[in-house]
Amino acid sequence: MPQTYDDLTRDQLVEILKRRDRERKLGLVWERQEIEADRSINSDFLINELDEALSLGGAGRANFIVEADNYDALRWLRTTHRGAIKFIYIDPPYNSGKTAGKTFVYNDNYVDPNDDYRHSKWLEFMYQRLCLARDLMTPDGLIFVSIDDGEMARLQLLMEIIFPGNFQACLVWQTDGNSDNTAAFKVQHEYILVYSRDKTQVLPPPVIDPNIDPDASKLFNNEIRNTFVKNEARKNKPSTLTLPAGFPASFERGVIPPRSGNQYPNHAEPIIVEDFKVQKSVELYSGWQSKNLFLRFVAQEFAPVFDQEQRLTAFELDKNGAIQSFKPRAESQSHVISVIKNVGSVQKTKSDLKKIGITFDYPKPVGLIQYLLKMMPGNDFTVLDFFAGTGTTAEAVERLNQEDGGTRRWIMVSSTEATATEPDKNVCRDACARRLRLFYETQGMGIRSSRPESYGFSYDRIRRVRHSDVDEALQPDNAWRWVQYAHGIPPTSYDSNSAVQQAESANVLVFYVDRATPNAITETAKRLNGKPAVVYSWTPGRFAEIAAEKNIDLRPIPAFFADRLSR
Ligand SMILES: C[S@@+](CC[C@H](N)C(=O)[O-])C[C@H]1O[C@@H](n2cnc3c(N)ncnc32)[C@H](O)[C@@H]1O
Repeated sequence: MPQTYDDLTRDQLVEILKRRDRERKLGLVWERQEIEADRSINSDFLINELDEALSLGGAGRANFIVEADNYDALRWLRTTHRGAIKFIYIDPPYNSGKTAGKTFVYNDNYVDPNDDYRHSKWLEFMYQRLCLARDLMTPDGLIFVSIDDGEMARLQLLMEIIFPGNFQACLVWQTDGNSDNTAAFKVQHEYILVYSRDKTQVLPPPVIDPNIDPDASKLFNNEIRNTFVKNEARKNKPSTLTLPAGFPASFERGVIPPRSGNQYPNHAEPIIVEDFKVQKSVELYSGWQSKNLFLRFVAQEFAPVFDQEQRLTAFELDKNGAIQSFKPRAESQSHVISVIKNVGSVQKTKSDLKKIGITFDYPKPVGLIQYLLKMMPGNDFTVLDFFAGTGTTAEAVERLNQEDGGTRRWIMVSSTEATATEPDKNVCRDACARRLRLFYETQGMGIRSSRPESYGFSYDRIRRVRHSDVDEALQPDNAWRWVQYAHGIPPTSYDSNSAVQQAESANVLVFYVDRATPNAITETAKRLNGKPAVVYSWTPGRFAEIAAEKNIDLRPIPAFFADRLSR
């Protein structure tokens, strides 16, 4: 879409030119309505509203669904979860025009598959959202983005612009199930691009590809074992070594008869083992690997020694007469293969959802997302999916928590997909919330008693309001929820019998005072206990007196959030 410059001021034009000079693009150019995008960030205020009827579980729920265009949802989340999200998975519209000719909404209109600017619009749509999402990520956070052949090349260049130098992996998911039989090349894969917020903070994925057979792979051994005897004479020149008395063996007792010829190591004397130890020293002849390490091990009376990588290494004789070196494995093992297989299919997931009354075209299998989640070290972090669809990611989070006792939390964002022709359509309510409600009700009862904050979810809507209408639109209960989210506290409900709402995080006392009456101010002062406190108020000036004496951070409502929304 051509940019109209005529109605821009000189300053705005200069700003565009400066920005163009600053932001050199690597091979990817698309039509950006820069001023438009920036303007919309400041043009309105966003308000979160809880729908208790669509929520599930009790107060203090850690998980939540956000019904909104994700552009608004992400802007709102920047006020509450900036730098707080460790794992993002998204499965955006692929811009293929397959879904009844409609794929994604740009500037409140579905983009027609024949639109000449379809790729530019999709890129701009993704760019805006990914930039907001980046601000939400923790320094060690990862973002996983599903895509197919159609936009893969462009998406990767876009990701390079938003996450420069932070490429982690291009995973190929082998999509089991039907492919298009009429196509010349039967496509059976999609991609998942993985980027980090800060590459230097990322640890290796602590997971082993599920297709590796535990019985056949050394990866599952507790230690790495290697034979110390090497027979390739060219690489390891044969020499004689003494296997001293007292050398450890992996078996309690036995005799290894003399060996010669190409049976290495050669020894003229039998090796006698009693009580897991060699009884009498024996001369061995062979090629050796890391002979110096062996000699140090012997010199240290068989105490483990450090190798070049500072890993402890020990040696022992096994009952076949081989000498093995072994190193205890690091705590977690990492072996992710870039091709992902056997984690479920879209077709199967679609038919499973159909059985519970949910019709949805392209749901991802839970197994795929569960595997991606395992790539993130730790099990206590927040997961975000802002193209949530049927909420597959939330189910994967909860299933993984059940499997490994984790306390991961999730945020699912979905639009309603309502249009002028289908004004009542609500994918967020009828697919995402419905599926997750059924999941918790049928398979989450155990969580209800053991981890009540993980059971269920809040259902919040984000609504745009004009700045001039905020005072009226922002109701006390929603303001109080917002404040709690901003402090990472699973929100409790508003107590209308109390003039002061109070919550506590690990390092701060949080108050919300809707009407700063003299009583409410005295009540707040009484509750201060020496811990740093934050007081949110519509009239913070009235707290000036107590704030001067105590350690209080006063935050004006709604200005505090207006400021965070516009940054
Ligand atoms: C491919 S689906 C995701 C499916 C999901 N991974 C699952 O397993 O169910 C993409 C979803 O993004 C949603 N979506 C598209 N544009 C959106 C927007 N601007 N804001 C929020 N959601 C949007 C669509 O409604 C659709 O449900």
